[in-house]
Amino acid sequence: MLVRLTYASRASHSVSAELIRDILDSSQRNNPGKGLTGILCCNADVFLQALEGPRSEVNALYNRLADDSRHKDLTILDYAEISVRRYSSWSMGWAGAKQVNRELFLKYSSSDRFDPFHMTAEQINGLLLELGETLSAIKSPVLG
Ligand SMILES: Cc1cc2nc3c(=O)[nH]c(=O)nc-3n(C[C@H](O)[C@H](O)[C@H](O)COP(=O)(O)O)c2cc1C
Repeated sequence: MLVRLTYASRASHSVSAELIRDILDSSQRNNPGKGLTGILCCNADVFLQALEGPRSEVNALYNRLADDSRHKDLTILDYAEISVRRYSSWSMGWAGAKQVNRELFLKYSSSDRFDPFHMTAEQINGLLLELGETLSAIKSPVLG
């Protein structure tokens, strides 16, 4: 059975390129073998991540993430059984909450700021779906 869990969290310290690299390295190392895919969006302060895969693996990863001191205030925004993946192309796709995405933030929330804690599950899902679509066109946005 497949599920998708979407959560937001606050970075313990300002997010660096090195931290993102570290997270994506872990994701590439661990997620494929567990059937996990997903997308991660963040700015300097806030993470938004959707995890999809077998329920037991998604739940286990979330519990591991909750123990990671590099972020805090983990808040589950949506949890659903799914029949089809949305982010099957990525062990963990990454999209920075940068200037070019402001238009998308405004489309899905009351301001052009990246603030998933104040968005509904429906808005979050719409935002991540569109970020995922734009991702396909970008290669290693932070690492390149
Ligand atoms: C915002 C955030 C997202 C993360 N996403 C993943 C992930 O999708 N997969 C993963 O294995 N680790 C992820 N991690 C890292 C885990 O918390 C943990 O450090 C890692 O899984 C340990 O495995 P490793 O020793 O192979 O690096 C994430 C950490 C943070 C802060």
